[in-house]
Amino acid sequence: MVRIHALLISTLLLFILSLSTSASSSSLEFGFYKKTCPSAEAIVRRAVNKAVSLNPGIAAGLIRMHFHDCFVRGCDGSVLLESTPGNLSERDHPANNPSLRGFEVINEAKAQIEAACPKTVSCADILAFAARDSTRKVSGGIDYSVPSGRRDGRISIMEEVTQNLPPPTFKAEELIKRFAMKGLSADEMVTLSGAHSIGVSHCSSFSNRLYSFNATFSQDPSMDPKFATLLKSKCPPPQSQTRDPTVVLDGSTPKDLDNMYYMKLKNKRGLLTSDQTLADSDLTKRMVLKNGRHNAIWRVKFAKAMVHMGSIQVLTGSQGEIRERCSTVNFY
Ligand code: HEM
Ligand SMILES: *[C@@H]1O[C@H](CO)[C@@H](O)[C@H](O)[C@H]1NC(C)=O
Ligand SMILES: *[C@@H]1O[C@H](CO)[C@@H](O)[C@H](O)[C@H]1NC(C)=O
Repeated sequence: MVRIHALLISTLLLFILSLSTSASSSSLEFGFYKKTCPSAEAIVRRAVNKAVSLNPGIAAGLIRMHFHDCFVRGCDGSVLLESTPGNLSERDHPANNPSLRGFEVINEAKAQIEAACPKTVSCADILAFAARDSTRKVSGGIDYSVPSGRRDGRISIMEEVTQNLPPPTFKAEELIKRFAMKGLSADEMVTLSGAHSIGVSHCSSFSNRLYSFNATFSQDPSMDPKFATLLKSKCPPPQSQTRDPTVVLDGSTPKDLDNMYYMKLKNKRGLLTSDQTLADSDLTKRMVLKNGRHNAIWRVKFAKAMVHMGSIQVLTGSQGEIRERCSTVNFY
């Protein structure tokens, strides 16, 4: 009975969502490379499956990489460009370096695709495919189709990361604003934050919550004290900062892409301030409860929101270029 109910709701939801968001990605097309490089998506999938079987953490890395690409200059592969003498690129911003992972998977897929169909498939599309294939390959995987036809940008500026990507210290209101700047709703922000049901965080991204919260509290009162004690045993105080270990983002089911993340927030066990605030703010707590109750609906919304995020400010047609190597712009 409950099952049928959930199925009905998610089918209805899929229908409503497909009506409301179809326009936003209209410049991209499903199967864009069907004629020009029919093996493109299969090559990316093979590279991702291989890398993720060897190290499941790579899936989390590639999903996050797509997010970080799309929020800075749109989904144009700018996050993949290496710094050049005199110009630090997005990749070297502290939000990306050293934590962002999976670059070698993109490079591997690109090399194979260039061998099969030279100068045809953009790095931005390869990254969008890789994020989808990662989402599909992880335990509890979610599959969806990715419209393509993105072109690669030629500019990547480190400072632009600060202006566009939300830091982990943001509260709900600021997070909603940052996502709105990219045309994403508060509900999409909450839904996409569910990506934190997999992967890890370095202690430095939340250790202020354990040791130096504010003038009144050394420990963040919005965190369960038992959880804080556990985290302190894994994260040394920032003063003794010679090591920066990692901790799983979702302590209950760290390897499953599922809605347990939202349940934990209700128990004050969100790892980042940006996670916990979603359950504590009146602006978002109802969305957290809903996602926590209905896994099937959250999964449908997550797939939709990934496609929407993947269409942010894309370059298409004759804009930008098709990079020959994902880490550098073309020299002509
Ligand atoms: C809502 C705003 C968000 C903030 C403030 C945020 C912040 C962070 C931070 C600080 C980390 C840990 C980095 C580290 O210290 O190693 C992280 C990890 C991660 N984030 Fe987010 N994030 C947000 C939204 C998203 C979105 C929209 C996605 C994708 C849909 C995403 C996917 C991930 C994944 C998969 C990881 C784990 C990465 C790994 O294990 O390598 N995040 N995020
Ligand atoms: C650095 O970036 C700026 C802005 O994109 C560009 O105009 C300039 O040519 C770049 N310089 C180098 C050395 O890459
Ligand atoms: C410290 O944080 C608490 C909880 O968020 C807040 O109520 C309080 O106003 C803050 N105190 C200072 C001095 O900022």
